[in-house]
Amino acid sequence: MIRSLQHVALNVPDLKAGHAFYTAMGLESHVENGSVVLRCPGRAQDQVRLIHGPRKSLAWVGWGTREGDLPFLLDHLASHGVALREAPPHAPAGGLWLADPDGVLLNIRAAEPAEQTRPAVEINNPGTHYHRVARRGAPHRQVEAKPRKLGHLLKFSTDVNRDVRFYTEVLGMKLSDRIGADMVAFLRCGGDSDHHTLALAASEAPGLHHLSWEMGNLDQLQLCAERLIAAGYKDGWGVGRHIYGSNYFHYVRDPWMGLNELFWDIDFIPEESPWQVEVAEAGPDSLYQWATVPPPEDFLTNYERLQ
Ligand SMILES: [Fe+2]
Repeated sequence: MIRSLQHVALNVPDLKAGHAFYTAMGLESHVENGSVVLRCPGRAQDQVRLIHGPRKSLAWVGWGTREGDLPFLLDHLASHGVALREAPPHAPAGGLWLADPDGVLLNIRAAEPAEQTRPAVEINNPGTHYHRVARRGAPHRQVEAKPRKLGHLLKFSTDVNRDVRFYTEVLGMKLSDRIGADMVAFLRCGGDSDHHTLALAASEAPGLHHLSWEMGNLDQLQLCAERLIAAGYKDGWGVGRHIYGSNYFHYVRDPWMGLNELFWDIDFIPEESPWQVEVAEAGPDSLYQWATVPPPEDFLTNYERLQ
């Protein structure tokens, strides 16, 4: 089964513009095989690979599993009639390659989630949970406000229910919640997992709706969003709090109108949890609990399809 989100590869028409956006967000970069590879500071794991291509599009998604699970996964793929693919150009070595029902390439490799090396943020809660005592908590404007990990992606899907079956029955993910019978589905990895590491939203064409980046706290989330907007990138939506996943969010658009969500405080579901799937009524109200502004009209627009 899939146990962790490792990285996402994107085709972009301008590597410099992509590099500028993600480094403005706070990621660290290096060049490998002509691709720009981006990592979160303090996290030894590639998170995004930018590949030069004719237009912005989702190239592949890299997932991690346990080494010992790979032979079972191979048998499982064969029994479901899922063919292995050749690795695409610019891909890192290793792992299995296959495609999901929308044709989106997946790389599944033996890899653990990277360790989080940056310290927990000290927060005072009412009652007994005082983690910051006799020290001022308001952050300096120049405080480090950089993503800690790539937490999830939301993929546009041409058939959400077909994709839910593929990712749960073939790859061992679990359904956490849904919006509508076929509008949005939230899937998590098979072991201990954030509420969702893959979300699916119905669209006429496949594509990437957003990448989502975990921040250390609400200050960092908002300061990072403000820094990007001040640098000229378009505000996507926020700040607010989602219902499914419960995370605080602020979305900022990349140079090709793709969304990047900064998030904090997402629900976490242990492997053995008897989590009950909730199905919300379809509609904009199911997207969020509160936000400083309502979602913009183009929040669910598939800009990859319109390029
Ligand atoms: Fe998200």
